[in-house]
Amino acid sequence: MTVREILLMGDPRLLRCAQPVAAFDTDELHLLVSDMLDTMLALDGAGLAAPQIGVDLQLVIFGTDARNPRYPAAPPVPKTVLLNPVITPLAPEDESNTPVEVEDWEGCLSVPGLRAVVPRFERIRYTGFDQYGDPIDRTVEGFHARVVQHECDHLLGKLYPMRVRDFSRFGFTSVLFPELRSATRD
Ligand code: NI
Repeated sequence: MTVREILLMGDPRLLRCAQPVAAFDTDELHLLVSDMLDTMLALDGAGLAAPQIGVDLQLVIFGTDARNPRYPAAPPVPKTVLLNPVITPLAPEDESNTPVEVEDWEGCLSVPGLRAVVPRFERIRYTGFDQYGDPIDRTVEGFHARVVQHECDHLLGKLYPMRVRDFSRFGFTSVLFPELRSATRD
């Protein structure tokens, strides 16, 4: 079990565009994924991107269950390892026009102690590969779509504060959500 140190906002390594993973199913890659899963679990994260531990690769992991104290109201998202992801915004299922954005609260392990309302596409398709090189192709919506967009933003050097439009809804978790105070370090 190896919990890696999380880089914090201000570190220039969080601003890089990450490199594609070139070799799948290697010992090095499996070790990295294992460390990332240990780190996400230890910090109660909903997701983690390789750049957050200083690794310049297009690799994200995410997943939540009903017991996540940082996101107690969130619906479960399957635990996923996603490499070289591509996101396509989709229109809502019941309409045939353009993708729709929705707003909801987000936090980030690289921005501890804060939460903000961030606009994200309501519905997306995402493709990529798992650590064995097997393809992933999913169409998702809601919180699952939000988590994927947040994590993949890390691969573009984007942290969620860069997406905030209304700074009146950006603040300290302990003030905004005092009920979370005992359950989380941020
Ligand atoms: Ni994040």
